[in-house]
Amino acid sequence: MSLFTAVEMAPRDPILGLNEQFATDKNPLKVNLGVGVYFDDNGKIPLLECVQLAEKELISKPTARGYLPIDGIAAYDSAVKALVFGGASEAVTSGRIATVQTLGGTGGLKVGADFLKKLLPNAGLLISDPSWENHRAIFTQAGFNVGTYGYYDAVNKGIDFPAMMKSLNDAPRQTIVVLHACCHNPTGYDISQEQWDQVIEIVKNKELTPFLDLAYQGFGSGLAEDGQVVGKFIKSGMNFFVSTSFSKSFSLYGERVGALSVVCTDKAECDRVLSQLKIMVRTNYSNPPIHGGSVVAHVLNTPELRALWEEELGEMRVRIKLMRSMLVAGLKDAGVKANMDFITDQIGMFSYSGLAKDQMVRLRNEFGVYGTDSGRMAVSALNTKNVKHVADSIAKVMA
Ligand code: LMR
Repeated sequence: MSLFTAVEMAPRDPILGLNEQFATDKNPLKVNLGVGVYFDDNGKIPLLECVQLAEKELISKPTARGYLPIDGIAAYDSAVKALVFGGASEAVTSGRIATVQTLGGTGGLKVGADFLKKLLPNAGLLISDPSWENHRAIFTQAGFNVGTYGYYDAVNKGIDFPAMMKSLNDAPRQTIVVLHACCHNPTGYDISQEQWDQVIEIVKNKELTPFLDLAYQGFGSGLAEDGQVVGKFIKSGMNFFVSTSFSKSFSLYGERVGALSVVCTDKAECDRVLSQLKIMVRTNYSNPPIHGGSVVAHVLNTPELRALWEEELGEMRVRIKLMRSMLVAGLKDAGVKANMDFITDQIGMFSYSGLAKDQMVRLRNEFGVYGTDSGRMAVSALNTKNVKHVADSIAKVMA
């Protein structure tokens, strides 16, 4: 009798699990639109020039690898604050934002989730319907009962804003609300700035607890535009959480470079919150790794590299938009009669195609086109060579 006899086989991860299946697929035309990763027009994950230059400089001055402080590299944490909140923002200069370097945006969510479970053990938690699959998993693992707020309008292809407002209005005080700051994952539909104002008002009036997930800053409309909502939350005077990630914006997926920032009321409160966040980090993984955070800090804190990064980020953003248009055109050419223009209305890495699970399974099995079962496709992996095959394949499963 083994200790593990009763252990059940867990299902594959709905997103990363697709990579495993994709790797073994023999179809020469296969395209991986499953995981949210940006590939260039040659189908390669780019190694940004700003990253290469920063790495060269860092390697030219080799340093020993002692443990980092629990909250990470100080220059990294301050660069995150400057990027996300604005260096001159009162919240930053008064020292009331607690930031810890985390293992990617996922790590930021988990550290925040663990802290919130201690702080508000009985609070409910809402994610959008639908949301990134891992939101539910992370917060469930941290002990929350995860519910949803209305978001996607499948019939009209867009956002059901009245449903979103109703869910927020009905939520009990202190309910934690996970909000996608930009480039909503999986739908690609963001609420407007005016709608954000209404959301913020209701979150404030109902005394809900906002947790912003900002994983795609720079992939929507631009760095400032994509971060605009953070400024609105600061202005509201609320306490809130923001998890950020450089996986996509620096094309540093495997380095796990992210952060959690908690906006507090004043410096003394911030010191206490930070001390608690450090316990969460210490008991999960002790302290973060050095390399990725050093690279990002070096780029963000060196004006020429920072300018180069913004340029390279802009190129990725523009190419994704071009791929959206090419996909719409390709679908028309392939004979799809339905209006597919919503693909260019969506923003960020993903398109929520509206295809059903059986169509997504057919796309994978018959055509080697991998998206998630929810119908989400990472348009960031399309290129001028594969977009026709993808469009033709979608047309076939829609016929
Ligand atoms: C995604 O949604 O595909 C990305 O955020 C990658 C991930 O970790 O799931």
